[in-house]
Amino acid sequence: MRTTRSFALRVNGVDHLVEGEPQTPLLYFLRNDLFLNSPKFGCGLGECGACTVLLDGVAARSCALPVRQAVEREIVTLEGLGSADAPDPVQQAFIDAQAAQCGYCINGMIMTAKAFLAVNPAPTEAQVREALRYNLCRCGTHVEIVRAVMLAAERGRADETAAP
Ligand code: FES
Repeated sequence: MRTTRSFALRVNGVDHLVEGEPQTPLLYFLRNDLFLNSPKFGCGLGECGACTVLLDGVAARSCALPVRQAVEREIVTLEGLGSADAPDPVQQAFIDAQAAQCGYCINGMIMTAKAFLAVNPAPTEAQVREALRYNLCRCGTHVEIVRAVMLAAERGRADETAAP
């Protein structure tokens, strides 16, 4: 028997009420109900990373996260990081490093990098590679992606040094 319920979701600082089944993945609500299309459906199995969002600041795969587990959590999608006019520093680094080809994986790369840099603002290249190891890019843009994350880290440190 199907059991539809209401779920209160806080996404990018805004409260939403969505209707659905408890086991339905968060990704479906983000894309179909809230029209936040940055998180992508790739594998649907929690393996490629295309659907990554931040859940209480931690990278989470929204295709494998039942909506009931996202209630009362702080959800951030790529749309919540920045905009075309005011991109987040990680987004800007990806632009500057030209770290995209088809772009399908980029949501997951940026969101994973954002969570990673929050806990490790001064990573080595090997640590960046390890952090992004389970985010797949079929275009083979990994070199530019790693460069973008290193660039974001360098700029973040420079900003901290320059802060009064
Ligand atoms: Fe979620 Fe692949 S679509 S990890």
